[in-house]
Amino acid sequence: MAVLDLFNLSGRRALITGGSRGLGLEMARALGEAGAEVIISGSNHDHLARACEDLCSEDLHVSSIQADLSSPNQAERLCEIILRDHAPIDILINNVGGRRLNTPTENLDLKDWQRIIDLNLTQAFLLTKHLGAAMIPRKWGRIINIASINALWPGKAMRGRSYETAKAALTMFTKAVAADWAVHGITVNAIAPGPFLTDANRRWIGERPEFEGEVASSIPMGRWGRPEEIGPLALYLASEASSYMTGSVLVIDGGRLLW
Ligand SMILES: NC(=O)c1ccc[n+]([C@@H]2O[C@H](COP(=O)([O-])OP(=O)(O)OC[C@H]3O[C@@H](n4cnc5c(N)ncnc54)[C@H](OP(=O)(O)O)[C@@H]3O)[C@@H](O)[C@H]2O)c1
Repeated sequence: MAVLDLFNLSGRRALITGGSRGLGLEMARALGEAGAEVIISGSNHDHLARACEDLCSEDLHVSSIQADLSSPNQAERLCEIILRDHAPIDILINNVGGRRLNTPTENLDLKDWQRIIDLNLTQAFLLTKHLGAAMIPRKWGRIINIASINALWPGKAMRGRSYETAKAALTMFTKAVAADWAVHGITVNAIAPGPFLTDANRRWIGERPEFEGEVASSIPMGRWGRPEEIGPLALYLASEASSYMTGSVLVIDGGRLLW
């Protein structure tokens, strides 16, 4: 097969959680352009509607399902809907996550700790369990977990270490499931992004404008990542091109971890 054909996703169906904005939206666009049928999920109806409208206007095959994945019950319900109405899923990208708090550990409430663990880890476990289980008899699947460089290195800009802890656990979950499911033809890999200019970071920049320059100057390439720069990496991991890669954590950070 010619090398570019390995990236063709025609006939594949993908679910991308948090696909309505930011990195998830760009991964949805990349997989859709490669020919996949894409389902995006998110918690906000208007964000989903706008993303679907944009992607469909680009002639991509995209639909959406609303679910708040900070709730394990809603994560289970999303899986039920997918398995009932949208099976089979060939490619699962567990992208939802975030920190939304900057509280030192000594002041962190248990309920805030748990909320961040559920948002970044528990829902990814539930979707992998249910939708990955359905890949096993089909003997093919791609699972991509969106971690963070903060899974590998705490950093000093933020506090509230439940985020770092959840992302680190997500990378070990990636490796463990990759080992268990390799025999079933399912690959499980993680992407560890460095700083990208998405709404989540624009909110922090809005609160403290000097943050934008501080972060840029801490990166060897001297700039934040552009959200669309994650699309090709997600496509690689979602496609036949990555057939011999599993259990890997791929850092994409402009060299941030080098300094
Ligand atoms: N941006 C970075 O610099 C960076 C760096 C390292 C890792 N990451 C990781 O990359 C992933 C995406 O980050 P991002 O910066 O693209 O985030 P973002 O701009 O905040 O977008 C997050 C997406 O997730 C959805 N979402 C958020 N909370 C949700 C919830 N409770 N239930 C369902 N959907 C929810 C949002 O949709 P709604 O608004 O509709 O809910 C949106 O589609 C996250 O896991 C993040 O931790 C990002």
